[in-house]
Amino acid sequence: MTYLVTGGAGFIGANFVKYLLKNYRDIQIIVLDDLTYAGNLGTIKDDLKDERLIFVKGNIKDAEATCPIFEKYGVQWLVNFAAESHVDRSIENPQLFLETNILGTQNLLETAKKYWATGKDKNGYPTYKDGVKYLQVSTDEVYGSLGETGFFTEKTPLDPRSPYSASKAGADLIVKAYGETYKMPVNITRCSNNYGPYHFPEKLIPLIIKNILEGKQLPVYGNGSNIRDWLYVEDHCKAIDLVLAKGKVGEVYNIGGHNEKKNIDIVKLTISTVRNLLEENKEYKKVLKRSGEDISWINESLISYVKDRLGHDQRYAIDPTKITTELGWYPETRFEEGIVKTIRWYLENQDWVEEVTSGDYQHYYRQMYGNR
Ligand code: NAD
Ligand code: DAU
Repeated sequence: MTYLVTGGAGFIGANFVKYLLKNYRDIQIIVLDDLTYAGNLGTIKDDLKDERLIFVKGNIKDAEATCPIFEKYGVQWLVNFAAESHVDRSIENPQLFLETNILGTQNLLETAKKYWATGKDKNGYPTYKDGVKYLQVSTDEVYGSLGETGFFTEKTPLDPRSPYSASKAGADLIVKAYGETYKMPVNITRCSNNYGPYHFPEKLIPLIIKNILEGKQLPVYGNGSNIRDWLYVEDHCKAIDLVLAKGKVGEVYNIGGHNEKKNIDIVKLTISTVRNLLEENKEYKKVLKRSGEDISWINESLISYVKDRLGHDQRYAIDPTKITTELGWYPETRFEEGIVKTIRWYLENQDWVEEVTSGDYQHYYRQMYGNR
């Protein structure tokens, strides 16, 4: 099987590449990534020693980047992770989100249609090579925001509220349009918040870990009561793998593990877990920016309530019944276990954190949070 994985140098895309290499022998993966601030070749540098993986730098919006990949490698499955993915950045620069997330998706669909089409049926619809598929990695944010009760199902109407989620909803609609108008074999997956290794430290969990280790304040938007539904990244990868192989063409699948947490509880749990791991293994203390054996300063007094995100969605919660009953997917990693694994990974991979935050990050951080 030949995969085109766009955004494979980002958080989930890189985890997906590693998942494929670990689980399948006879595959070829081409990663197309433009290496924006969120993409880092270092994340997959060891994997690139494997001849099953090829890296191409390029923008998903450009046919000059996407067409040669199809010509040269005969892509069979395209998984589109590439996107501008951070809500806060979308509030500052919405246009980039529309360009990458909507126009980029449309160019990928158009390229795939061009190279996968084999002719036309009697009604004028294109016919396609056997077994090809386009999978759009979408998000639960396209459904908007929930009150205290209820869950997002695949039938929940789209109601995006941020420039990021609006651009992802726009992308979903163009994928659906290619599925209906050109009968392209497509799937859309909509997942809840991921966490795990290689998560860029502008997002809540890795940012909190990084700030604790540096003895900085921990910014919590508003009163910290917003709820997200957290899923370990490898469980997301497993779900995408299943949808590619067994998902019914044209269908949308929600992915989530019934793991709703208030932001403030996530922050408190991260503080106590970091502290426990530092106590457990003295070696870890070497990564602290504040020296000294005493780590009693790692406590909830580091929390700082800051100005709320504009249009901050209150609650997300996925109903994963469809993917569970139709494809047999279930999340394997319990949150209590996944968060420890994740924090341990950050403690042991500070080089990676330094590498990905050495460029634009410091400037971004100062603009978002000031000098806290
Ligand atoms: P990320 O920001 O960590 O990675 C995005 C990757 O896409 C980066 O490697 C970046 O260089 C690349 N990229 C950006 N613009 C590009 C362009 N124009 N051309 C080529 N490459 C480009 O994002 P992530 O958190 O890994 O999310 C991956 C996908 O999953 C996104 O589509 C996102 O909407 C979706 N998603 C994310 C989550 C989550 O919790 N992180 C949850 C559900 C869905
Ligand atoms: O739900 C899926 C989505 O999850 C994905 O589609 C997005 O790509 C991904 O970034 C994520 O979006 P969120 O906005 O939910 O993630 P983020 O980590 O930015 O924020 C999680 C929650 O924490 C949110 O309610 C805002 C809050 N927050 C975030 C940051 C960065 C804070 O309170 N303080 C912070 O400093």
